[in-house]
Amino acid sequence: MKEQIQVMISEEEVNARISEIAAQISEDFKGEEILVIGILRGGVYFCTELTKKITVPVILDFMEASSYGAGTESSGQVHITKDLIEDIAGKHVIVVEDIVDTGRTLRLLLENLKARGPKSLKLCTLLDKPQRRVVEVQVDYNGFVIPNKFVIGYGMDYAQKYRNLPYIGVVEGE
Ligand code: PRP
Repeated sequence: MKEQIQVMISEEEVNARISEIAAQISEDFKGEEILVIGILRGGVYFCTELTKKITVPVILDFMEASSYGAGTESSGQVHITKDLIEDIAGKHVIVVEDIVDTGRTLRLLLENLKARGPKSLKLCTLLDKPQRRVVEVQVDYNGFVIPNKFVIGYGMDYAQKYRNLPYIGVVEGE
């Protein structure tokens, strides 16, 4: 049976918010160069759309992290499965994610990146689901605060499908 999808945040709303965040980052880092780290796989659509709209020089790199555990409730064990190519020491770094949920992935990634000596380190996420937070994470740039619903699209999947939807949706019945 094909899943029914309901739109939570439209393509127009997402794009408009991304433009606002890009303008804010461009203003905050005026005259500087930034190194943007997209977190695979979910962060890839947001990362590419965002960086296209940023007006200061951008170096782009990617990392991937996975959490291992039973079902959707991870055990909290997060591992880096793909590391950066770039050296981030002395750079202004912005980590770009699709969603902060429990916070475990970003906590690990940010601690790991901090130890590499960046000049500054910020977190930018398209979605923030604070009701699910288990560990504290500072979000510096956020697109939308959302309720505790299973969301898809704009990088987020349901059994690996729907990442390429240009809007944020909810799978009905979830
Ligand atoms: C998602 C998302 C974040 C993480 C957030 O990735 O992209 O990386 O979960 O959850 P947390 O705050 O509870 O740690 P996922 O592990 O689903 O991998 P994917 O991006 O490849 O889909």
